[in-house]
Amino acid sequence: MNEWKPDSWKQKKLSQAISYPDAETLDRALQVLSRLPPLVTSWEVENLKALLSQATRGEAFLLQGGDCSERFADCRSDPIVAQLKVLLNMSMVLTYGSQRRIIRVGRFAGQYAKPRSSDTETRDGVTLPTYRGDMVNRPEFTKEARTPNPLLLLRGYERSALTLNFIRSLVDGGFADLRHPEYWNLRFVKYAQLAEEYTAIVNNIADSLKFLEILAGRRLHELQRMEFYTSHEGLHLPYEQMQTRVVPHRTGWYDLTCHFPWIGNRTRNLDGAHVEFFRGIANPIGVKIDSHIAPSELAELARVLNPQNEPGRLTFIHRFGAGNIAKGLPPLIDAIRYSDQVVLWVCDPMHGNTITTQSGRKTRDFHAILSELDQAYEIHHACGSQLGGVHFELTGENVTECLGGARGITEADLEHAYVSDVDPRLNYEQSLEMALLIARKLHRNHG
Ligand code: PEP
Ligand code: CO
Repeated sequence: MNEWKPDSWKQKKLSQAISYPDAETLDRALQVLSRLPPLVTSWEVENLKALLSQATRGEAFLLQGGDCSERFADCRSDPIVAQLKVLLNMSMVLTYGSQRRIIRVGRFAGQYAKPRSSDTETRDGVTLPTYRGDMVNRPEFTKEARTPNPLLLLRGYERSALTLNFIRSLVDGGFADLRHPEYWNLRFVKYAQLAEEYTAIVNNIADSLKFLEILAGRRLHELQRMEFYTSHEGLHLPYEQMQTRVVPHRTGWYDLTCHFPWIGNRTRNLDGAHVEFFRGIANPIGVKIDSHIAPSELAELARVLNPQNEPGRLTFIHRFGAGNIAKGLPPLIDAIRYSDQVVLWVCDPMHGNTITTQSGRKTRDFHAILSELDQAYEIHHACGSQLGGVHFELTGENVTECLGGARGITEADLEHAYVSDVDPRLNYEQSLEMALLIARKLHRNHG
């Protein structure tokens, strides 16, 4: 294999490449990015890797979630707080159910670049470039909005920094104090049974903490500060490269745009540019996979991306769809076991379950999502492996983008509050319900 450099990916085939008409401005924007301070630090990145290695041993469980595609317009206080709250709520429920430490990783503070199945979109005879995320172009169907604009890379970096700054201040300021669930409870869970079950769990946790502190005779300060890590699809390689640095007192290169970048299902080809870039960075990384990957190819991918077989380094995020997982997953688990590789297995029950309604809305059904998760859990168990985490597209807001759940969202309801420009997300109630159902399952099996 050739020597790795932050730009050695340029020698490989780049899928999902963006053609910027203004090369000079692109160059200038990238130069600026290469001088700006990193968004995260290598200490945090290594801490997360250590936590993920605990998850490979079954001592922790990953909860990864957030928007399919973050929007610049949502870089505001309310949506960010709502996103933190829903992740915190879910993590409490999952802690209770799994009796394991929950690692919270947001799809936020940088999830601004999207892979698309087509380079262009045609409406009424007009063909324009597809929308590829707020960091690349804008969703409005005009030539101006759809032309990739390099300056949006800087706007994306800045919004990532603003989001992260707000999250860090909230967390450091005690917003996520476990003794004060009222700070981070979502007040608008109206569905009574859900609210009751959730409140019982959270009160139980708060009581246990009080009890523990009385026994210990001191305040447990760690409980005040629930950590969040950031992640996004590392799709836009020029952007990722500019924030990839060598840091003092450590060996290796760190991609400091986020803690946990992942390779998308469309860009994970072994001889492609994304795998080349990712193999050289020291971060913990994820790879999305589905039925199209051969078992031998998966084992090779693990060898290329994690040659030292370092626990916590590599996470496979499988996203088969409820109808395909039973057939697709077992041979992949076997391939990894036979090749003696340590990976973390995570289920993304969203991306294999996308359907389009008659009226043309992209949606996902709560039952299909839950069914894929249920099956993932059982299959790993039966194959002597274990499900180490879950990956959702969700929001803390009251949208109607996915069908079903306790409130029974129907196709007609999708018209009420469908906000996403890309994939449909679970809303706050559906997310909490999902967490409660997973927790029940984990509790039954471990309790
Ligand atoms: C995504 O996570 O939004 C995505 C595009 O997923 P995948 O790469 O699994 O299709
Ligand atoms: Co998506």
